[in-house]
Amino acid sequence: MPAPTPRPTIAAMVRYQPNLSAPTAGRIIRLSANEGALGPSPKAMQALAEVAAQVHHYPEEEPKALAEAIGQTYGLDPARMVFGCGSDELIQALCQAYIDPGDEVIHTEYGFIMYPMSATVAGGVPVSAPDIDYRVSVDAILERVTKRTRIVFLANPNNPTGSYLARSEVARLQRELPENVLLVIDAAYAEFVSRNDYSDGSELVEASENVIMLRTFSKLYAMAGLRLGWGYGPQDVINAMHVVKQPFGANRGAVAAAIAAIGDKEFVERSVAHNETWQPWTKAKFEALGLKCLPSVTNFLMVRFPDEAGHTATEAGAYLSERGILTRGMAGYGAPAFLRLSIGTEEEMRIVVDTVAEFLNQ
Ligand SMILES: Cc1ncc(COP(=O)(O)O)c(C=O)c1O
Repeated sequence: MPAPTPRPTIAAMVRYQPNLSAPTAGRIIRLSANEGALGPSPKAMQALAEVAAQVHHYPEEEPKALAEAIGQTYGLDPARMVFGCGSDELIQALCQAYIDPGDEVIHTEYGFIMYPMSATVAGGVPVSAPDIDYRVSVDAILERVTKRTRIVFLANPNNPTGSYLARSEVARLQRELPENVLLVIDAAYAEFVSRNDYSDGSELVEASENVIMLRTFSKLYAMAGLRLGWGYGPQDVINAMHVVKQPFGANRGAVAAAIAAIGDKEFVERSVAHNETWQPWTKAKFEALGLKCLPSVTNFLMVRFPDEAGHTATEAGAYLSERGILTRGMAGYGAPAFLRLSIGTEEEMRIVVDTVAEFLNQ
């Protein structure tokens, strides 16, 4: 008898490759997953410890206290939120709920890789809208809309480039999309952005029936290991997601920690201030070494390495990795000349800059 085989679509896919382990046994500096530099809020850690004795109980299907805390913090209606095991689960749920085989899903050229992956797993056809100079182009997205388009995924700010679209451009995108196309605004890095013309997209959720905003506790709140994402959208979209997503995706530990984290304003301010200091510092240091960094409003930088043998991004990634510094190669995103690295602690940033200088001078 032949062995069981997955669907041909799945058999042809390569799994998500995060680069979270180094070939060295010593100290590891993880700059490969855009995690929080400072670790979680002490209040979140305390809340997590306190909930330990209750983990024999399933979590709530809809964590009401968390929805209320988020509602208060961001001025949103708690009734229109959905929670999942990371925003990754919510991206998958949207694809499962809205895509029939052959339906098209538009993502941007250098957009988050889970969008085309989840679309493909759901039987959809990912359609890439080219960036212009590593920035999302609303026109390129609109030009790719067909009768089969069901979802447009927009990461704003964008991972891996770190750029963002102004509020007016996102509003234009929503205005010009057909009403039956769902616009997913993934604002995973929203908390880091302090630009007057930026919006997380929640006002578009309020004003339309075809926009959902996704958020996460993995980035600014530094709780990636607990896996908690949330969405804010029209009731119909939330209802559809509830049908396909797992009922207990937001676990007890994550929910308790998130309620504490979101209330810890001092931690939030400290994390934003840390990034506002060390992200431009790191960028300036790299530029002084002759490397170009894409402009970023986030806690990571996409860095262009030289093309000449000995100094390429691939070689830089290997050199750093051998010294315990994990970065993210961009070949999987179609940009092999770049490395993406997140902003860590001051000490980590000083080490990474010195190590990159050493690499370039060898
Ligand atoms: C744009 C974007 N969306 C979603 C995610 C997934 O986040 P989560 O940890 O909530 O699944 C990431 C993580 O890197 C991201 O960069």
